[in-house]
Amino acid sequence: MNYQSVLFNGSMRKNPFSISPDPQLFYFSRQHVECLQALESSIRLRSGMSVVLGGVGMGKTTVGRILIRLFQDKPEYIFRLILDPQFNSELEFLAHLSQLFEIKTKAQTVLEYKEALQNFLYFKGINEKKIPVLIIDEGQKLSPAMMEIIRGLLNYETNEFKLLQVVILAQMEFTEQIRSMPNFMDRIAAAYVLDPFSEEELIRMIDHRLRKTTSEHVLDVFSEPALKQIYEYSHGFPRKAINLCQQAYLVRVNEQLERIDEDVLTHNIRRKEVTYV
Ligand SMILES: Nc1ncnc2c1ncn2[C@@H]1O[C@H](COP(=O)(O)OP(=O)(O)OP(=O)(O)O)[C@@H](O)[C@H]1O
Ligand SMILES: [Mg+2]
Repeated sequence: MNYQSVLFNGSMRKNPFSISPDPQLFYFSRQHVECLQALESSIRLRSGMSVVLGGVGMGKTTVGRILIRLFQDKPEYIFRLILDPQFNSELEFLAHLSQLFEIKTKAQTVLEYKEALQNFLYFKGINEKKIPVLIIDEGQKLSPAMMEIIRGLLNYETNEFKLLQVVILAQMEFTEQIRSMPNFMDRIAAAYVLDPFSEEELIRMIDHRLRKTTSEHVLDVFSEPALKQIYEYSHGFPRKAINLCQQAYLVRVNEQLERIDEDVLTHNIRRKEVTYV
């Protein structure tokens, strides 16, 4: 499927190197498409939990937003998003989940909340034929106790499907947390790892962002050695590359340069090193 054309048509005018997780500036690389397809089918098949792992700034949050968009005109799906899953106790997490899904309950204890969630999932899934989907971003922040609650929620099922779909987006370190909890690991129906881009993909991503927002393409704006340098500096991580492109793009505008060359980048890389050390 061509996600780009399904979700967005036409072009727009905005900052090509905005670092917000904007689905419209997203370049659908092969692995991002495969990842979205895996998530989409896992949700449609109601197979339970999917996990997406990736390094810092690899596009996980954006993938979450795109996934929500993909289902936005399907009213049977009830998507809810947790951006920062840090909770002080099981009770706090369960109360948050109840609130998120707008469950009307007088529950006060862990047990009562679990019961309320169970009733909600059976009622929605079986009586109303709805599919609640919980997306958890920054999954590496989940504590073992919270992971145990998620595992518990995945126990609610019919003979054919799970009543709650969970998508966890997490940095690579989450792998260790999963490994230390084999019961949790067993519940993962689909897992996907987003690897850093190759040089070619990174250049395509930069080109895509420029074409979407301006009338220029990548070689109008960057020299080839400059692009090589962006790749070497970013190691194929989109956010790191975009940040550098943004700095260089500003210099180009301010100094009315025709193209961004290596020396502009080198200067900005040095400045970043000084700022971040
Ligand atoms: N395939 C892509 N095409 C265009 N931009 C991308 C792509 N992947 C990531 N980006 C951009 O990189 C930046 C980081 O993306 P995002 O916040 O989704 O990453 P993340 O993996 O959630 O990061 P973190 O590990 O910090 O949570 C955003 O500006 C996003 O738009
Ligand atoms: Mg993120």
